[in-house]
Amino acid sequence: MANLTALSFKVRVIKKTVMNFVELGTEMSSRRTLASWKKLQLLAQDKKSQHMKTLFSQDNERFNKFSIELPNMLLDYSKNLIDSETMDSLLALATETNVCQWRDKMFRGDKINKTEERAVLHTALRRQSHEPLIINDENVTNHVQKQLADMEIFVNNVRQGEWLGYSGKRITDIVNIGVGGSNLGPQTVTEALKHYSDGSINVHYVSNVDGAQIVEVLRPLNPEKVLFIVSSKTFTTAETMTNAKTAIKWLTSASFDEKSVAKHFVAVTANRENAMSFGIEENNIFDMWDWVGGRFSLWSAIGLAIALDLGFDKFRELLSGANEMDQHFINAPLKDNMPAIMALISVWNTTFLGSQSQAILPYDQTLHMLTAYLQQAEMESNGKSVTWDGSEVDYATVPSIWGELGINGQHAFYQYLHQSNNVVPADFIGSVESVTPVKGHHETLMSNFFAQTQALMTGVDETQVRADLKAKGRTQDYIDKVAPHKVHKGNRPTNTILLKRIDPKTLGNLIAAYEHKIFVQGIILKICSFDQWGVELGKGLAADIQQELENNNIGSHHDCSTASLMKFYQSAK
Ligand code: F6P
Repeated sequence: MANLTALSFKVRVIKKTVMNFVELGTEMSSRRTLASWKKLQLLAQDKKSQHMKTLFSQDNERFNKFSIELPNMLLDYSKNLIDSETMDSLLALATETNVCQWRDKMFRGDKINKTEERAVLHTALRRQSHEPLIINDENVTNHVQKQLADMEIFVNNVRQGEWLGYSGKRITDIVNIGVGGSNLGPQTVTEALKHYSDGSINVHYVSNVDGAQIVEVLRPLNPEKVLFIVSSKTFTTAETMTNAKTAIKWLTSASFDEKSVAKHFVAVTANRENAMSFGIEENNIFDMWDWVGGRFSLWSAIGLAIALDLGFDKFRELLSGANEMDQHFINAPLKDNMPAIMALISVWNTTFLGSQSQAILPYDQTLHMLTAYLQQAEMESNGKSVTWDGSEVDYATVPSIWGELGINGQHAFYQYLHQSNNVVPADFIGSVESVTPVKGHHETLMSNFFAQTQALMTGVDETQVRADLKAKGRTQDYIDKVAPHKVHKGNRPTNTILLKRIDPKTLGNLIAAYEHKIFVQGIILKICSFDQWGVELGKGLAADIQQELENNNIGSHHDCSTASLMKFYQSAK
């Protein structure tokens, strides 16, 4: 028996070693050498000459074949230039690039953020299991559970009026001071879930260092009743530090007591030391960890404003919605895996069909900040051009992400989407039920929602345009003049995401789906999705220029444009 056990152990070791070599081999090779990549390049040539209208006329099963339904969320990706052969090749690409193995590495805490040598574990923040998860000899599960417990106590104290300001009044207003992931996550969520707030606490956000914003936010507030959350993973971000200093001055100019800071300021940071030297009480600091990227941190104490606004139970519902999507991402076969399919479609449209941008078009007013959130999530993660080993990427990586609420967009840039010579794939995001039903409104909204993706796909050709104009009694001269301008080529790809309604759980589903989509794109494109070196140069130059402006001593090293602009600014002040 013992020999058999030893033998099976040896077989497992050999198999794992071989797998690692295969994996390493695949990883070291350029993506372009993969069989699936080459196949997709050929298919792309072929697909570019096809029209989705034809594909739909040939196959009434497209929706059933190319859609994924989860309990609260439907993805219809059939309005893309794909067929079963394309999807098989895209799935083969996911397999050849070891997407599932990398996914498993991420969830178990391997240091897949290679350039910063860090794990990527925002998923641990919403894990429902209390099983230990050891990173750098520390049990992450314990840290997360302790932090959630500390957050809940704090949130309940504030919401129940036990946390009092310097004059003994309860807190009524929260001001979150932070930028990027330390702002967009909490603000996108509290804006989306306003309906679920009991209004006992008002939340406000200051992210821009333009003084206009903090002045506007603080103007109507009573310093005795305001609690500031200084959210900054590094606690070095100049914009946030500047705003926080102004907030402290605003408070102490009313309280005339430096000690009042302890009653009106908490911090969320991975840099406890900086926060304390800034003047935040040690007991008022909530930790962040280096295995949580800023743009993926709303599930941590960075989400305090969410919990304060909605109550901790709703914050837990948000976490459980994200965890539901995590479980789907872990367990669903790639062909039925929503985030993986969203990623493959994006890679297909961008890297193979050549689209340069992607529009995010929510039709639910509650999601009015989602596009801004996804701009950071996607473009700060995958807006890169070197592969894991530092070599230049020789293919398009991710599209630029832009967009607006759909109805507003229809009256702003849909002309471009329908008739420009730039094809922009778009994600349409809507909900079956409105959380604030008003008779006739949701039907009008959703009629536009469905009409637009149909129009973008089918278009209207010149024959049809001419026939319509003739039927309206237009003269031949008029028809000859106007018809070419009324043609919509169509064949514009869209994904449709339909949520049951916007609530904490479905919002957690949605945001986690995009997080995992971004992850899969990074693996397929072989780029590191979890660092952000591209923000360092601008930050560094800004610090130097600020010194020069403050000392009125403009350096001779600047180009003549920058130097002249600085001189013009100095002289015009
Ligand atoms: O934009 C760069 C960045 O580091 C983001 O990744 C981050 O979310 C933001 O700035 C704010 O950083 P911090 O939370 O450290 O203030």
